[in-house]
Order: sequence, then structure tokens, then C-alpha cells
Amino acid sequence: MDSAITQPPTFSTLIRTASHEQHTEAESSTFMSDLLGGRLDVRAYARYTEQLWFVYRALEDGAQALREDPVAGPFIRPELARVAELERDLAHLRGADWRAGLAALPATAAYAARVEECARTWPGGYVAHHYTRYLGDLSGGQIIRGKAEKTWGFDRKGDGVRFYVFEDIANPAAFKRSYRELLDGLDVVVPDDLEKQRIVDECKRAFALNTAVFRELGAEFPLSA
Ligand code: HEM
Repeated sequence: MDSAITQPPTFSTLIRTASHEQHTEAESSTFMSDLLGGRLDVRAYARYTEQLWFVYRALEDGAQALREDPVAGPFIRPELARVAELERDLAHLRGADWRAGLAALPATAAYAARVEECARTWPGGYVAHHYTRYLGDLSGGQIIRGKAEKTWGFDRKGDGVRFYVFEDIANPAAFKRSYRELLDGLDVVVPDDLEKQRIVDECKRAFALNTAVFRELGAEFPLSA
């Protein structure tokens, strides 16, 4: 008998498999499909980018206090930070006074609040949110960038799509591999299976929070028939 079959799955496999269904749901949301299908105008893309700014502010403000944390600390890497890139994109999309009138949708506010709460009270939950966003940005985010450049004419990897460009990660595939190793290493710092399950559940919640944002964006930018 192949011994690999009897091995329990690694944590990175567990979290990826457990969130697979939610991933498909988020990916195939009406808003995402319309965005990737080139059917929305640049205002919808700008509105989406604004929502990301609120979420990443929560992720990256929250990261400060977690740098030394044994569970979340190893995940916090400066090369992932996105807020500065989002701000450059927003200045391009909305103009120099991009902050004026910037508003979080209710679903975005709820999402950011949950990230903040995890950052303050539960490092394992913070990791679930970190994984859901940054590994996604390094993966499907690249597809979104390509489509955005083509649809709205942004310069390749330039203003408007800098959020998707990780200048300091030369080899995203290798980075993702090492990130998955960090996830697998949680076995040591989080030996409790129940706590690991809670982290997986938080990841599913993170996907659901993203889907809720897409739903509200979809309502704001319905396609004219
Ligand atoms: C249209 C939108 C999307 C597309 C086309 C897409 C596409 C992909 C693809 C192709 C991968 C696999 C990459 C690989 O195996 O290296 C991936 C992974 C991932 N995506 Fe997405 N995705 C989208 C939306 C999202 C959203 C909204 C989230 C969550 C906020 C997300 C989170 C993730 C995560 C966490 C992974 C890593 C899975 C793992 O290897 O553990 N994706 N995505």
C-alpha cells in the first residue's frame, strides 16, 4: 500500500481543499465575471480597488503588532505589503484627491472589521485572512491584472494595476511554495487540531466576506441588458 495515501494532508493542502468551493464561488461571481469579461467600465474597477484599500489597511495596520507573534509573525513579510501600491493606483484612478469621498461598502466595512478583530485578538484567524488575500493576489490576481491592462489600457504593470505587481517577489511560484511551507509549519506552533480547524473555518469566512463585497459591487454596477 502506498504510504502517501495514509498520510494526513498537510495544512496547506487542507486549507486549499477546504476553501475550494468558496474559491469557485468568488471567482464566478457576477461582478468578477463581468469585470474579467471586459463588460464593466473603469469606474467599476476603481470602486473595487477602493474596497481593497479598506481591506488591506486592516490587514497591514494589524500586522504591526503581530510581527513577533509565533503564529502570525512569520507570515508578515514587507514584500507583500500592498497599501502603498493601492494608493498609487487610486491616485491614478480617482485623481490626486483620491481620499475625498472614499467610501467602504457595508460588506467591505464588515470584512475590514473582522480582519481588525482577528489581528487584535486571534493570530490564527489573522493568518486565515492573510492567506486568503495574499496567496490569491499572487495567483488569480495576475489574471485580473492582465485583463485590466487590456480592458482599460493601463500601462503593463503600471499605475492602475500596481496592486497586482509584487516588485520585490522575483519568483512568485517559489514564494508561494515557501508560503505553503509556512502554513505546513503551523503544525508545530498550532498542534491542536481543533484550533487548526477553526483557522480553516475562518478562511472559508474570509472567502464569504469577499463574495459579499462582490455581491454589493454587482448591485452597484449591474450590466445594462
Ligand atoms: C476571477 C477571480 C479569480 C481567479 C481567476 C482566480 C484564479 C486562481 C488560480 C488560477 C489559482 C491557482 C494558482 C496556483 O495554483 O498557483 C488561485 C489560487 C488562489 N486564489 Fe484565486 N482566483 C480568483 C479570485 C480569488 C478570490 C476573490 C480570492 C479570495 C479573496 C482568491 C484566493 C485564492 C487563494 C487563497 C489561492 C491559493 C490557493 C492555494 O494554493 O492554497 N482567488 N486563484
